[in-house]
Amino acid sequence: MARILGSVMTSHVPAIGAAIARQLQDDPYWKPFFDGFGPVRRWLADAKPDVAVVFYNDHGLNFFLDKMPTFAIGAAPAYRNADEGWGIPQVPPFEGDEDLSWHLVESLVAADFDMVTCQEMLVDHAFTLPLALLWPDQRWPVRVVPICINTVLFPLPSAARCWKLGLTVGRAVAEWEADANVLVLGTGGLSHQLEGERAGHINKAFDLRFLDSLTRDPEWATRTSINDLVKEVGTQGIELLMWLAARAALPGRVHERHRNYHIPISNTAAGLLLLENA
Ligand code: DHB
Ligand code: FE
Repeated sequence: MARILGSVMTSHVPAIGAAIARQLQDDPYWKPFFDGFGPVRRWLADAKPDVAVVFYNDHGLNFFLDKMPTFAIGAAPAYRNADEGWGIPQVPPFEGDEDLSWHLVESLVAADFDMVTCQEMLVDHAFTLPLALLWPDQRWPVRVVPICINTVLFPLPSAARCWKLGLTVGRAVAEWEADANVLVLGTGGLSHQLEGERAGHINKAFDLRFLDSLTRDPEWATRTSINDLVKEVGTQGIELLMWLAARAALPGRVHERHRNYHIPISNTAAGLLLLENA
């Protein structure tokens, strides 16, 4: 049977791709951000995941405003990155875990989640950059299953619904008949807003409370409506839904192994959290 090792949640900002390309990891602006990943990389070197299930939101590369699934899952043999217009280098393709993908599709549909199943899927910066932060040589040691949650076109799924999605994924992984170590990633957030009158909005107090909640009271944010969450964290800060889904996938007790929080990276309050399955 498969084992969930833990979860890594991190922000994703296109500028990270430019900083990697220009080798700015030790630059004063970037150092507090990149240094956060050292402990996570060391943990991964020990934990040796075989597969990563990645909750993220596509920003218009694979799904555009004309066709926007609330929940989508990849079931492809491989996933490629492509130009999103940020001018950042593309990364090598990722090998898909088709067996786990189809097991999750079966389990999620049986649990009344109407997933869009994608046998072809491009993955954008929200998927590629977190993996490049965890494995800087970009020789991906894991097979992947991408799971997309819409956070770009309203209406969005509620935080409680995203929690249930993660819970169902976690239970299905535990029932997957494969001798595999599974890592769950959640990418996005924390507070940020890119457009409109509140462009530049950051809410450190809320972010820190949210980070604390993921170990102490992980369903805390699910008791708040999407509109109220957006008021707190901004229209793109709502990407924290990925963190909730990833947290919900962890069975039993969790142990916070590492966290980093740094303002700003581009327009974003950058968060990083490593939760180990205790
Ligand atoms: C930024 C943040 C994001 O989450 C994103 O998807 C694109 C840009 C930013 O802060 O620049
Ligand atoms: Fe984003």
